[in-house]
Amino acid sequence: MKAEVAKTKCTGLVVTRPVIIITTLNENGVVNGGAFGAYTNLSPSEIGIAIGKESHTYKNIKRTGEFVINVPGADLVDSLSIFGSNLPSSASEVEKASLTTDLAKEISPPLIKECKANIECRYTKEFPIGYHNFVVGEVLLGYCEKSCLDEDGRLNVLKAGVLHGVKYPLPIYALFGKYVEGK
Ligand SMILES: Cc1cc2nc3c(=O)[nH]c(=O)nc-3n(C[C@H](O)[C@H](O)[C@H](O)COP(=O)(O)O)c2cc1C
Repeated sequence: MKAEVAKTKCTGLVVTRPVIIITTLNENGVVNGGAFGAYTNLSPSEIGIAIGKESHTYKNIKRTGEFVINVPGADLVDSLSIFGSNLPSSASEVEKASLTTDLAKEISPPLIKECKANIECRYTKEFPIGYHNFVVGEVLLGYCEKSCLDEDGRLNVLKAGVLHGVKYPLPIYALFGKYVEGK
């Protein structure tokens, strides 16, 4: 069961920058999913992601201006190789990974239901950086699995079991072990 997360709290769902899956719509309406790790929170309402110019994700965002950031937990670790692969636009990585979708409220690309958190985003601008383009999106609305939502409105990364790519391109990920509090 997911709770809605207000626009002002959405970046708290990716505050530790776990691997994300971006869903977009191909021109033929098929749901595309790509894995991404090179991104950052830029302001309380903006996230920037370095996206390869040749990817379906990049082309779909440029064409539609819409995308969803989905945060998988460790239970989806096996699916990341599918989201890192380049399937033809007639095939959906989401379906190939045997995952399902929920409708988004403000945009057309759907959310991945099995992910711990999701953020609906709208393209605002981009900056060319080598092979990638650094694509900036405005966050619109978020969702978080109720059991993984902290009282401050941020994702509890321990409960969610979010994944951090530490040996890319090898499929090896790190999980956080505990919270520690400084003075
Ligand atoms: C864990 C992981 C992290 C990745 N991070 C990025 C990234 O930050 N930027 C990027 O352009 N590609 C990244 N990739 C590669 C893309 O997922 C890959 O190019 C994929 O084919 C894109 O899918 P698409 O063509 O359907 O958009 C990553 C792949 C994996 C498995």
